[in-house]
Amino acid sequence: MMWSRSNICTPSGAAAFSSRWQKQRPDLTILNVTCTVLFVATNTITGRLAGKNILITGGNSGIGLATAQEFDKQGARVAICGLNEGTLQATKKTLGAGSLAVRADVSNLTDLDTMFTTIKREFGHLDGVFVNAGYSEFLPFEEVTEQSFDKVIAVNFKGAYFTIQKALPLLRRGSSVIITSSVGARKGWPTTSTVSACKAAVNHLARILSAELVDRGIRVNTLSPGPTDTAMFGRFPGEEQGEAVKDVLRTSNPSKRMADPLEIAKLAVYLASDDSAYVVGADFLIDGGVTAISAVGA
Ligand SMILES: NC(=O)c1ccc[n+]([C@@H]2O[C@H](COP(=O)([O-])OP(=O)(O)OC[C@H]3O[C@@H](n4cnc5c(N)ncnc54)[C@H](OP(=O)(O)O)[C@@H]3O)[C@@H](O)[C@H]2O)c1
Repeated sequence: MMWSRSNICTPSGAAAFSSRWQKQRPDLTILNVTCTVLFVATNTITGRLAGKNILITGGNSGIGLATAQEFDKQGARVAICGLNEGTLQATKKTLGAGSLAVRADVSNLTDLDTMFTTIKREFGHLDGVFVNAGYSEFLPFEEVTEQSFDKVIAVNFKGAYFTIQKALPLLRRGSSVIITSSVGARKGWPTTSTVSACKAAVNHLARILSAELVDRGIRVNTLSPGPTDTAMFGRFPGEEQGEAVKDVLRTSNPSKRMADPLEIAKLAVYLASDDSAYVVGADFLIDGGVTAISAVGA
């Protein structure tokens, strides 16, 4: 739409003009609109992610939610996706004016296409993707059903894979892709045969995609949390022992606690920022010492 004196100089025209402007330029604040003079103030956005547009999958809970809020605090314009419309909208309210919340199942390619169309329309481009959506079912190997196998692989591997593929056309030179892996990728922990195998797969995916994308100025890394205090434990039907599992994880961790999601988010800020420009195809452990430390002989 062309803005002209005749359509701005009405109360509804001025309101529409302000709203449109604020959507497209959240870095500017409309102070006043009159028929003759437009008053605009520049909001100086500062922070380690200032000026970056970043998508966070699973941005409405746990690690993704803490990261969305931290990225926002660091000046990024954030888009989040997840399944739960209620928590998506509640999270969006905690983020800046230009943020976006989209309901999308990362294992569904049609949902991904729709989401990236929306992001392209609203943001134009992306400077980063935090590929974080995940779903776990902790079951002994012999109890894993085809349905459970398919669901865990669909979210954690297929979802991560196609999120990155579909994001590529929007990713500018200098972009950072971060995949949430897990300490489980390095550990032979019982009951994690599906999810930890997916996490080991995304670690290697990050190396291969780094090789394919480094010349386009896109780097891909993984971030591997240890036990982190989120809703992940106790999520899947039948897993009523979430809190009890957390107690065990706290006790057995060398740091004698779980991570706070914000601690993971702060590492994600580094990986999304230009400070990590030379970090390519790497895996960053943040696990309280689980991997490095063991009893003598263990
Ligand atoms: N917590 C830990 O100890 C730990 C340790 C290592 C790695 N991780 C990894 O960290 C990541 C985040 O997990 P979390 O601990 O923060 O757990 P969480 O609180 O359960 O968050 C999981 C997130 O993924 C989203 N999600 C699940 N399935 C999805 C799908 N099909 N499409 C789109 N979004 C989907 C959820 O959205 P809804 O809420 O809308 O369903 C939620 O936002 C996961 O990749 C997990 O494997 C966690």
